[in-house]
Amino acid sequence: MPFVERVFSGVQPTGNLHLGNYLGAIVNFVKMQETHNCIYCVVDMHAITQGIDVWGGPAELTRNTREVTAAFIAAGIDPKKHIVFNQSQVSGHAELAWIFNCVARMGWLGRMTQFKEKAGKDRENASVGLFDYPVLMAADILLYRATHVPVGEDQKQHLELSRDIAQKFNNDFGDSIRAQGANDGLFFPLPEPLITGPATRVMSLRDGTKKMSKSDASDNSRINLTDDADTIAQKIRKAKTDPEPLPSEEKGLEARPEADNLVGIFAALSGRAKADVLREFGGGQFSSFKNALAELCVTKLAPIAGEMKRLVADPGHIDSILNDGSDRARALADETMKLSKDIVGFIYRR
Ligand code: TRP
Repeated sequence: MPFVERVFSGVQPTGNLHLGNYLGAIVNFVKMQETHNCIYCVVDMHAITQGIDVWGGPAELTRNTREVTAAFIAAGIDPKKHIVFNQSQVSGHAELAWIFNCVARMGWLGRMTQFKEKAGKDRENASVGLFDYPVLMAADILLYRATHVPVGEDQKQHLELSRDIAQKFNNDFGDSIRAQGANDGLFFPLPEPLITGPATRVMSLRDGTKKMSKSDASDNSRINLTDDADTIAQKIRKAKTDPEPLPSEEKGLEARPEADNLVGIFAALSGRAKADVLREFGGGQFSSFKNALAELCVTKLAPIAGEMKRLVADPGHIDSILNDGSDRARALADETMKLSKDIVGFIYRR
């Protein structure tokens, strides 16, 4: 029997959601709701894998968890039809991660580029959690036996690791899985990344060769989802460009990273192809394109910021959404955990 298609994805509550997170991930989360059952998770357990100075401490974590939840809802995710919750409320994530810790190999994790980047030179001083991060991520997905995972380009390697873990579990416990009668010996699906959309990589507004990032020292390098209309418009007008007018064809964007980025943002926000955008603005002055882009950004993003502000002002309401989502997630997770325990041979109260 093939697996039922199900979507799972997660966002870390580490502050400052920006246009890159929105176009690279959240827009796809919203779209997937039309065709799939979706589970969207605020991964607070992942957020604490780096030093306290990076995740900001307990009060920040709580605030950021509510803010990401608000962003999901403001962007158009329906927490009644689908599931929105925070990871730490469902203990199955940690439990399944432990089983997976004994399936995944040190060598696999040692090759993860995100770990190498985040740990930097001082690896001895990185937390064990940071090293283990991709195993917890595999547990997130497979706890719901999700088949499709909308993520940004940078998470591709972690998705491959999730597939390796699922496959090795299915192999290692093959006899036990068949004895339980589960799915022809295939207990976990091999989850696929969904990396789609014209702007899966949004670059800095100050340097078109660097990714837009929450940790860039210059706030002008990014558009935060909480920025108001004036701030958005100002940041677009100040965005770095080059002296040439816009080209009329996509080929003319080569070696012009800043122009390419702005055209990409326009295309993504308007749902048009880059070529189509250039047909309209090519040959014209950058300033008139920037005015149109500023207007488009404000139209699309300012209402989200406004709605987030309204939602965050009522933390009780946000928490009730997370509690309800967690209850529904837990019901699905418990099912997988029981079957996993049977497969591994753990005794539990029936
Ligand atoms: N690692 C992801 C990121 O930083 C967040 C994440 C955690 C995630 N668990 C997940 C994404 C499961 C998809 C599925 O973007």
